[in-house]
Amino acid sequence: MPIAQARHHRLPALAETGYEILRPYAGPLDPAEWEHLKYLDWKSGGDTNFAVLASALGDDDPRGFWEHGLPDKDAVWTANAALAPTLREWVHSVGARFGRVRIIKLATSTDEETVVQRHLHLDDNNRLNPEGEGWVVRAWLNLTDDPDSYMMLREDRDDPATEHRIPMPRGAQFVVDTERLWHAAFHPGPEPRYAMIASFESGPHLQAWMDSQRVALPGRQAAPQDFSGAAAERS
Ligand SMILES: [Fe+2]
Repeated sequence: MPIAQARHHRLPALAETGYEILRPYAGPLDPAEWEHLKYLDWKSGGDTNFAVLASALGDDDPRGFWEHGLPDKDAVWTANAALAPTLREWVHSVGARFGRVRIIKLATSTDEETVVQRHLHLDDNNRLNPEGEGWVVRAWLNLTDDPDSYMMLREDRDDPATEHRIPMPRGAQFVVDTERLWHAAFHPGPEPRYAMIASFESGPHLQAWMDSQRVALPGRQAAPQDFSGAAAERS
């Protein structure tokens, strides 16, 4: 009997839980890079507005890339991105193919039960993703300091026992397979929460970046970095 082949390359690091919390971003974050952008009325996971930094064609378009017959990869920077050089550089520093990049502005949540009942959702990152290429996952960089807010993740939407929570202080970085895990943020407010969300293709570049951003635990050595193979594969 033939062995079933995976249709897309996935990261072993996300195989068990579907997410990984990385160490916080250490660089400066200037509110001017997100507060002065053009926001669109676009609802996802609560009372939200989005500023589009990279889209399928570089237009100020919050829709899925499939609307243009494209997978969520090889995005083009929008006019907003010119106002957010640090955030653009953060995306480039990952080194992986990236798709949609947006700033989410999330208003105060009503309550946790509403988040569970109304806002938990799965993404559709891999529509039109060609077989044999890398699975598209999402990375977050929390921009405002929201230590009492958290990203709620559930393997099973209706089973709280499958829930994990990721706290979101300033600079929080994490990667989630959002087509696998139900997710939504709970944000007690009162000020809006801002975060950057970017789609990345799974593969050696994303893995190398995640390895470089891994939380340092006592007694755990940082993984040796060897980008030579990855660079050769990319060219
Ligand atoms: Fe989502």
